[in-house]
Amino acid sequence: MKKAPSGILPIIAVDRRSSVPLYRQVYEGYREAIVDRRLRAGQRLPSTRSLASELGISRIPILSAFEQLLAEGYFESRVGAGTFVARSLPDEGTPLEARATARGAAEPERPGRRVVSRASEVLSPTGDPWFAGHGPFRLSEPALDQFPFQVWSSLMARHSRNPTRNQLAYGDPMGYRPFREALAEYLRTSRAVRCEPEQLMVVSGSQQALELSARVLLDTGSPVWFEEPGYAGAKDVLTLARARLVPVPVDEDGLDVSAGIARCANARAVYVTPSHQYPLGGTLSASRRLQLLDWARRSGAWILEDDYDSEYRYESQPISALQGLDRDSRVIYIGTFSKVLFPALRVGYLVLPEDLVPRFARVRDAMDIFPPTLFQAVLTDFLAEGHFARHLRKMRQLYRERRTALVDALTRELGDTVEVLGAQAGMHLVAALPERLRDRHIAERAAKEGLRAMPLSTCYLEDATRQGLVLGYGGTDAARIPEAVRRLRRAVR
Ligand SMILES: Cc1ncc(COP(=O)(O)O)c(C=O)c1O
Repeated sequence: MKKAPSGILPIIAVDRRSSVPLYRQVYEGYREAIVDRRLRAGQRLPSTRSLASELGISRIPILSAFEQLLAEGYFESRVGAGTFVARSLPDEGTPLEARATARGAAEPERPGRRVVSRASEVLSPTGDPWFAGHGPFRLSEPALDQFPFQVWSSLMARHSRNPTRNQLAYGDPMGYRPFREALAEYLRTSRAVRCEPEQLMVVSGSQQALELSARVLLDTGSPVWFEEPGYAGAKDVLTLARARLVPVPVDEDGLDVSAGIARCANARAVYVTPSHQYPLGGTLSASRRLQLLDWARRSGAWILEDDYDSEYRYESQPISALQGLDRDSRVIYIGTFSKVLFPALRVGYLVLPEDLVPRFARVRDAMDIFPPTLFQAVLTDFLAEGHFARHLRKMRQLYRERRTALVDALTRELGDTVEVLGAQAGMHLVAALPERLRDRHIAERAAKEGLRAMPLSTCYLEDATRQGLVLGYGGTDAARIPEAVRRLRRAVR
């Protein structure tokens, strides 16, 4: 039985001037809401008293209507609990089907009429088994059980119990000022990003950062260099913005800038993951960084730097952000808390060149006005009181162990078949497969074994030149990894 929500008033139009008696209007209003499935079996109904006061009529017609609905079995009353939509009513079927039956006909089709945008039709359907639910190797899943819930809940309580006026009212499209100050300090210190709080905009994850950037910087058909292979989330949002993606190959030194110039020298922008190329794991070399900045300066292109997980690097210090080298304000720096804390926070940020701030702020205001304040207030203290730095240190150690367990198990079980790429950083690596094997088939077989391995070929815009499995290890206990790899071996062979 579903939980009964508490007597929310449904929309029932009552017209006092109508010749239809009031009790009949209330009766029909409820009956139609139930047939339409706007009200569902088991849902609690308001008291007749509050309904009368809400509709501005006397209680008598409402009592009559309720009596009839009870008598006909639409409502049921439970002693001491109130009146509910009858639980015996069928609760299946889509609302649309119910409406069609109630009115005796389905909505007429309108041939030849385009009802959705072309851009939205370009997106491929979702539902790939490697993104369904959880399981070993699930990408982008941090060690959720290691999160410091105790600290977090006390900070949440602190800010929920006594919120300031500023924390409740409409806010700045750029985000909550104290959070941007704490974040700017972190980014300058740990990521070598050159920024002031004024340049920081808080967004709901990298995804929104990219959407906003596309809205402000791109026109329909604007050419954008895109890493090949690259991040499907970025591909989707840029495609939706109707950018023209130009695949640019990557190797162990990251994006091949010369190939980009050869393919499309006048691109409006480039999407790039310099610290940890997604998915192959390369690092953009110093010479390519300078070449990329130089090309952007000369051509007036924008560099969208997605720095999604560079806090985790196991063999050396984290790589400095490309943005820190930029002297010409060409880089839009994008970061996220999805990997370092947890994805459901939906908190990320943009560091903008100063002259772009007013444009971004204005567009943001038109989109969703400003980001929710509560989590930002909590995160401000989480950073300022040292919890964030402590959590990062702990996670770096943990992911290093998980990474090592995975590399060891892959070498032991599949060493003659796979080549491990990109294991020096982040929360995923690539097990590259020989060309004769099809990564999609293997990933589908692995999904049947409960594993969530993403086929590398899905990261290509053009025909895949490599087959492989992208394996996340952030969310899988080191002790469980050997057994998961044995299951993976069954899927590969
Ligand atoms: C390359 C890359 N960028 C960004 C993100 C994070 O996205 P978001 O901040 O929207 O959760 C991910 C997560 O999977 C990613 O793989």
